[in-house]
Amino acid sequence: PSAWLLGAQALREWQALLGPRGHASHKGSWGDVLVIGGAPGMRGAAQLASQAALAAGAGRVYVGLLEAKTDSPLGRPELMHWHEAQLAEPASWAQHTVVAGCGGALLMARVLPQLLAHASRLVLDADALNALAAEADLRSLLRARAAQGLATVLTPHPLEAARLLGSCSQEVQADRLGAAQALAMDLACCVVLKGSGSVIASPGSVCAINSSGNGRLASAGTGDVLAGWLGGLWAQLPPQLPHKHPQHEALHTLACAAVYWHGAAASGAEGGPLRAAELIERMLRLHPQVPD
Ligand code: APR
Ligand code: MG
Repeated sequence: PSAWLLGAQALREWQALLGPRGHASHKGSWGDVLVIGGAPGMRGAAQLASQAALAAGAGRVYVGLLEAKTDSPLGRPELMHWHEAQLAEPASWAQHTVVAGCGGALLMARVLPQLLAHASRLVLDADALNALAAEADLRSLLRARAAQGLATVLTPHPLEAARLLGSCSQEVQADRLGAAQALAMDLACCVVLKGSGSVIASPGSVCAINSSGNGRLASAGTGDVLAGWLGGLWAQLPPQLPHKHPQHEALHTLACAAVYWHGAAASGAEGGPLRAAELIERMLRLHPQVPD
Protein backbone atom coordinates (compact mmCIF):
# COMPACT_ATOMS: atom_id res chain seq x y z
CA PRO A 1 0.00 0.00 0.00
CA SER A 2 1.10 3.59 -0.62
CA ALA A 3 1.60 6.18 2.11
CA TRP A 4 2.75 9.74 2.58
CA LEU A 5 5.33 11.04 5.04
CA LEU A 6 3.86 13.04 7.88
CA GLY A 7 5.60 16.35 8.62
CA ALA A 8 4.88 19.76 10.15
CA GLN A 9 2.01 20.35 7.69
CA ALA A 10 -0.04 18.01 9.91
CA LEU A 11 -0.27 20.72 12.58
CA ARG A 12 -1.25 23.39 10.03
CA GLU A 13 -3.98 21.15 8.63
CA TRP A 14 -5.40 20.61 12.10
CA GLN A 15 -5.19 24.34 12.83
CA ALA A 16 -7.06 25.10 9.58
CA LEU A 17 -9.76 22.60 10.53
CA LEU A 18 -10.33 24.14 13.94
CA GLY A 19 -9.67 27.87 13.41
CA PRO A 20 -8.53 30.25 16.17
CA ARG A 21 -9.60 30.09 19.82
CA GLY A 22 -12.58 32.43 19.39
CA HIS A 23 -12.76 35.58 21.56
CA ALA A 24 -16.27 34.78 22.76
CA SER A 25 -15.69 31.06 23.23
CA HIS A 26 -16.20 29.39 26.60
CA LYS A 27 -15.31 25.97 28.01
CA GLY A 28 -18.46 24.51 26.48
CA SER A 29 -17.15 25.49 23.04
CA TRP A 30 -14.18 23.13 23.30
CA GLY A 31 -15.76 19.84 24.18
CA ASP A 32 -15.70 17.36 27.05
CA VAL A 33 -13.34 14.42 27.44
CA LEU A 34 -14.00 11.41 29.63
CA VAL A 35 -10.98 9.24 30.45
CA ILE A 36 -11.88 5.75 31.70
CA GLY A 37 -9.13 3.51 33.08
CA GLY A 38 -6.61 3.80 35.88
CA ALA A 39 -7.46 0.55 37.64
CA PRO A 40 -5.75 0.03 41.03
CA GLY A 41 -1.99 -0.01 40.54
CA MET A 42 -2.28 1.89 37.22
CA ARG A 43 -3.85 5.18 38.28
CA GLY A 44 -0.97 7.07 36.67
CA ALA A 45 -1.95 5.96 33.16
CA ALA A 46 -5.39 7.61 33.45
CA GLN A 47 -3.84 10.67 35.11
CA LEU A 48 -1.41 11.13 32.22
CA ALA A 49 -4.12 10.67 29.57
CA SER A 50 -6.45 13.16 31.28
CA GLN A 51 -3.71 15.74 31.85
CA ALA A 52 -2.79 15.42 28.16
CA ALA A 53 -6.43 15.92 27.09
CA LEU A 54 -6.58 19.08 29.19
CA ALA A 55 -3.31 20.43 27.79
CA ALA A 56 -4.46 19.70 24.22
CA GLY A 57 -7.26 22.20 24.83
CA ALA A 58 -10.43 20.28 25.72
CA GLY A 59 -12.95 22.44 27.58
CA ARG A 60 -13.58 19.99 30.43
CA VAL A 61 -11.96 16.69 31.38
CA TYR A 62 -13.56 14.01 33.57
CA VAL A 63 -11.69 10.98 34.92
CA GLY A 64 -13.40 7.69 35.67
CA LEU A 65 -10.98 5.61 37.74
CA LEU A 66 -12.07 1.97 37.76
CA GLU A 67 -12.75 0.50 41.23
CA ALA A 68 -12.01 3.78 42.97
CA LYS A 69 -13.41 3.79 46.49
CA THR A 70 -12.80 7.47 47.15
CA ASP A 71 -12.14 10.60 45.12
CA SER A 72 -8.38 10.10 45.07
CA PRO A 73 -6.17 12.95 43.79
CA LEU A 74 -5.97 13.16 40.00
CA GLY A 75 -2.71 15.04 39.74
CA ARG A 76 -4.24 18.33 38.59
CA PRO A 77 -6.97 20.45 40.21
CA GLU A 78 -8.66 21.12 36.84
CA LEU A 79 -9.68 17.45 36.43
CA MET A 80 -13.07 16.20 37.61
CA HIS A 81 -14.08 12.80 38.96
CA TRP A 82 -16.59 10.60 37.16
CA HIS A 83 -18.02 7.47 38.71
CA GLU A 84 -18.65 4.10 37.10
CA ALA A 85 -22.28 4.22 38.25
CA GLN A 86 -22.80 7.02 35.70
CA LEU A 87 -22.23 4.46 32.95
CA ALA A 88 -25.88 3.50 33.38
CA GLU A 89 -26.98 6.95 32.10
CA PRO A 90 -25.44 7.18 28.61
CA ALA A 91 -27.26 10.44 27.90
CA SER A 92 -24.95 12.17 30.40
CA TRP A 93 -21.69 11.12 28.68
CA ALA A 94 -22.44 9.87 25.14
CA GLN A 95 -21.48 13.23 23.61
CA HIS A 96 -18.14 13.36 25.45
CA THR A 97 -15.02 12.17 23.68
CA VAL A 98 -14.23 8.98 25.59
CA VAL A 99 -10.62 7.78 25.98
CA ALA A 100 -10.65 4.26 27.39
CA GLY A 101 -8.07 1.65 28.34
CA CYS A 102 -5.14 3.56 29.82
CA GLY A 103 -4.41 1.29 32.77
CA GLY A 104 -7.69 -0.59 32.71
CA ALA A 105 -6.55 -4.15 33.36
CA LEU A 106 -9.26 -6.83 33.18
CA LEU A 107 -11.87 -4.31 34.38
CA MET A 108 -12.05 -2.85 30.87
CA ALA A 109 -14.16 -5.73 29.50
CA ARG A 110 -16.88 -4.79 32.02
CA VAL A 111 -17.34 -1.22 30.77
CA LEU A 112 -16.61 -1.64 27.07
CA PRO A 113 -20.05 -2.86 25.88
CA GLN A 114 -21.69 0.36 27.12
CA LEU A 115 -18.93 2.55 25.71
CA LEU A 116 -18.98 0.82 22.31
CA ALA A 117 -22.75 1.11 22.10
CA HIS A 118 -23.11 4.77 23.09
CA ALA A 119 -19.94 6.89 22.90
CA SER A 120 -20.15 9.14 19.85
CA ARG A 121 -16.35 9.53 19.78
CA LEU A 122 -14.16 6.81 21.22
CA VAL A 123 -10.38 6.40 21.56
CA LEU A 124 -9.31 2.89 22.60
CA ASP A 125 -5.81 2.24 23.95
CA ALA A 126 -3.85 -0.43 25.82
CA ASP A 127 -6.18 -2.56 27.99
CA ALA A 128 -9.26 -1.68 25.93
CA LEU A 129 -7.41 -3.12 22.92
CA ASN A 130 -6.41 -6.20 24.91
CA ALA A 131 -10.06 -6.73 25.88
CA LEU A 132 -11.11 -6.42 22.23
CA ALA A 133 -8.47 -8.94 21.19
CA ALA A 134 -9.73 -11.39 23.81
CA GLU A 135 -13.47 -11.13 23.08
CA ALA A 136 -15.05 -11.56 19.65
CA ASP A 137 -18.35 -10.10 20.94
CA LEU A 138 -16.61 -6.81 21.69
CA ARG A 139 -15.11 -6.76 18.19
CA SER A 140 -18.61 -7.24 16.73
CA LEU A 141 -19.85 -4.26 18.76
CA LEU A 142 -16.91 -2.25 17.47
CA ARG A 143 -17.70 -3.09 13.83
CA ALA A 144 -21.34 -2.15 14.41
CA ARG A 145 -20.34 1.35 15.57
CA ALA A 146 -19.18 2.48 12.11
CA ALA A 147 -22.48 1.38 10.59
CA GLN A 148 -24.25 3.62 13.14
CA GLY A 149 -22.03 6.58 12.29
CA LEU A 150 -20.04 6.36 15.55
CA ALA A 151 -16.30 6.92 15.08
CA THR A 152 -13.43 5.12 16.82
CA VAL A 153 -9.66 5.51 16.96
CA LEU A 154 -7.44 2.60 18.04
CA THR A 155 -3.88 3.33 19.24
CA PRO A 156 -2.09 -0.05 19.46
CA HIS A 157 1.65 -0.57 19.88
CA PRO A 158 2.95 -3.50 17.79
CA LEU A 159 2.13 -6.20 20.37
CA GLU A 160 -1.42 -4.89 20.90
CA ALA A 161 -1.88 -4.79 17.11
CA ALA A 162 -0.59 -8.36 16.85
CA ARG A 163 -3.09 -9.57 19.46
CA LEU A 164 -5.92 -7.96 17.47
CA LEU A 165 -4.67 -9.49 14.21
CA GLY A 166 -4.00 -12.90 15.72
CA SER A 167 -0.34 -12.69 14.69
CA CYS A 168 2.91 -11.79 16.49
CA SER A 169 4.74 -8.48 16.87
CA GLN A 170 7.57 -9.57 14.53
CA GLU A 171 5.02 -10.10 11.76
CA VAL A 172 3.43 -6.70 12.44
CA GLN A 173 6.82 -4.99 12.39
CA ALA A 174 7.76 -6.69 9.11
CA ASP A 175 4.80 -5.01 7.36
CA ARG A 176 3.63 -2.08 9.49
CA LEU A 177 1.65 -0.42 6.70
CA GLY A 178 -0.12 -3.65 5.85
CA ALA A 179 -0.91 -4.38 9.50
CA ALA A 180 -2.33 -0.91 10.18
CA GLN A 181 -4.44 -1.02 7.03
CA ALA A 182 -5.69 -4.52 7.71
CA LEU A 183 -6.86 -3.47 11.19
CA ALA A 184 -8.47 -0.27 9.91
CA MET A 185 -10.43 -2.19 7.29
CA ASP A 186 -11.37 -5.14 9.49
CA LEU A 187 -12.57 -3.06 12.44
CA ALA A 188 -13.76 0.02 10.46
CA CYS A 189 -11.69 2.38 12.63
CA CYS A 190 -8.93 4.91 12.38
CA VAL A 191 -5.80 3.03 13.51
CA VAL A 192 -2.57 4.51 14.89
CA LEU A 193 0.09 1.79 14.88
CA LYS A 194 2.67 3.22 17.28
CA GLY A 195 6.46 2.87 17.44
CA SER A 196 9.29 4.41 15.43
CA GLY A 197 7.53 5.70 12.29
CA SER A 198 3.95 5.49 13.62
CA VAL A 199 1.45 4.60 10.89
CA ILE A 200 -2.00 6.22 10.69
CA ALA A 201 -4.55 4.27 8.64
CA SER A 202 -8.27 4.94 8.12
CA PRO A 203 -10.76 3.38 5.71
CA GLY A 204 -10.95 5.69 2.70
CA SER A 205 -7.78 7.71 3.47
CA VAL A 206 -4.18 7.37 2.28
CA CYS A 207 -1.94 6.00 5.07
CA ALA A 208 0.52 8.34 6.76
CA ILE A 209 3.92 7.47 8.25
CA ASN A 210 5.15 9.82 10.96
CA SER A 211 8.56 11.44 10.56
CA SER A 212 8.84 12.95 14.07
CA GLY A 213 9.88 11.36 17.34
CA ASN A 214 12.81 9.31 18.56
CA GLY A 215 13.94 6.89 21.25
CA ARG A 216 13.41 9.51 23.99
CA LEU A 217 9.74 8.56 23.76
CA ALA A 218 10.55 4.99 24.76
CA SER A 219 9.49 5.45 28.37
CA ALA A 220 6.42 4.31 30.31
CA GLY A 221 3.35 6.48 29.91
CA THR A 222 4.13 8.24 26.63
CA GLY A 223 1.44 6.12 24.95
CA ASP A 224 -1.11 7.28 27.53
CA VAL A 225 -0.15 10.88 26.70
CA LEU A 226 -0.81 10.27 23.00
CA ALA A 227 -4.24 8.72 23.63
CA GLY A 228 -5.27 11.61 25.89
CA TRP A 229 -3.94 14.27 23.53
CA LEU A 230 -5.79 12.71 20.62
CA GLY A 231 -9.00 12.72 22.65
CA GLY A 232 -8.39 16.33 23.68
CA LEU A 233 -8.05 17.44 20.06
CA TRP A 234 -11.05 15.42 18.93
CA ALA A 235 -13.31 16.91 21.61
CA GLN A 236 -12.68 20.36 20.13
CA LEU A 237 -13.91 19.38 16.67
CA PRO A 238 -17.47 20.68 16.17
CA PRO A 239 -20.08 18.08 15.13
CA GLN A 240 -20.82 20.15 11.99
CA LEU A 241 -17.72 21.05 10.00
CA PRO A 242 -17.67 23.93 7.51
CA HIS A 243 -18.06 23.17 3.78
CA LYS A 244 -19.53 19.73 4.54
CA HIS A 245 -16.02 18.44 5.34
CA PRO A 246 -16.51 14.71 6.08
CA GLN A 247 -15.95 13.78 9.74
CA HIS A 248 -13.94 10.65 8.93
CA GLU A 249 -11.43 12.75 6.96
CA ALA A 250 -11.24 15.27 9.77
CA LEU A 251 -10.56 12.44 12.21
CA HIS A 252 -7.69 11.14 10.09
CA THR A 253 -6.23 14.68 9.88
CA LEU A 254 -6.56 15.08 13.62
CA ALA A 255 -4.92 11.72 14.39
CA CYS A 256 -2.02 12.65 12.09
CA ALA A 257 -1.65 15.99 13.92
CA ALA A 258 -1.64 14.34 17.35
CA VAL A 259 0.99 11.78 16.32
CA TYR A 260 3.27 14.32 14.64
CA TRP A 261 2.92 16.73 17.59
CA HIS A 262 3.79 14.01 20.13
CA GLY A 263 6.96 13.13 18.22
CA ALA A 264 7.94 16.74 17.50
CA ALA A 265 7.92 17.50 21.23
CA ALA A 266 10.61 14.84 21.69
CA SER A 267 12.60 15.87 18.62
CA GLY A 268 13.74 19.11 20.20
CA ALA A 269 14.39 17.66 23.64
CA GLU A 270 17.81 18.03 25.16
CA GLY A 271 19.25 15.40 27.44
CA GLY A 272 18.07 11.88 27.97
CA PRO A 273 14.74 10.05 27.93
CA LEU A 274 11.56 12.05 28.48
CA ARG A 275 9.31 11.45 31.43
CA ALA A 276 5.72 11.31 30.18
CA ALA A 277 4.58 14.24 32.36
CA GLU A 278 7.40 16.33 30.91
CA LEU A 279 6.31 15.35 27.40
CA ILE A 280 2.90 16.95 28.04
CA GLU A 281 4.57 20.24 29.00
CA ARG A 282 6.70 20.17 25.87
CA MET A 283 3.66 19.45 23.67
CA LEU A 284 1.83 22.37 25.25
CA ARG A 285 4.66 24.70 24.26
CA LEU A 286 4.25 23.67 20.59
CA HIS A 287 0.50 24.48 20.65
CA PRO A 288 -0.33 26.37 17.45
CA GLN A 289 -3.87 27.44 18.36
CA VAL A 290 -3.82 31.15 19.16
CA PRO A 291 -6.69 33.25 20.51
CA ASP A 292 -8.21 35.64 17.96
N1 APR B 1 10.62 6.44 18.09
C1 APR B 1 9.48 7.13 17.95
N2 APR B 1 8.42 7.00 18.79
C2 APR B 1 8.54 6.15 19.82
C3 APR B 1 9.71 5.40 20.03
C4 APR B 1 10.78 5.56 19.11
N3 APR B 1 11.91 4.88 19.23
N4 APR B 1 9.52 4.64 21.14
C5 APR B 1 8.30 4.91 21.60
N5 APR B 1 7.69 5.82 20.80
C6 APR B 1 6.34 6.37 20.96
C7 APR B 1 5.32 5.43 20.34
O1 APR B 1 5.10 5.72 18.99
C8 APR B 1 4.10 5.70 21.20
O2 APR B 1 3.43 6.85 20.77
O3 APR B 1 6.01 6.43 22.34
C9 APR B 1 4.71 5.91 22.58
C10 APR B 1 4.78 4.63 23.42
O4 APR B 1 3.50 4.11 23.64
P1 APR B 1 3.25 2.66 24.27
O5 APR B 1 4.07 1.65 23.53
O6 APR B 1 1.81 2.47 24.39
O7 APR B 1 3.96 2.74 25.70
P2 APR B 1 3.39 3.20 27.14
O8 APR B 1 2.90 4.53 27.12
O9 APR B 1 4.52 2.94 28.10
O10 APR B 1 2.26 2.25 27.46
C11 APR B 1 1.86 2.13 28.79
O11 APR B 1 0.35 0.63 27.63
O12 APR B 1 0.91 -1.15 26.29
C12 APR B 1 0.47 -0.77 27.52
O13 APR B 1 1.16 -2.47 28.96
C13 APR B 1 1.46 -1.17 28.55
O14 APR B 1 0.24 -0.48 30.45
C14 APR B 1 1.27 -0.13 29.61
C15 APR B 1 0.81 1.11 28.89
MG1 MG C 1 0.52 1.95 25.83
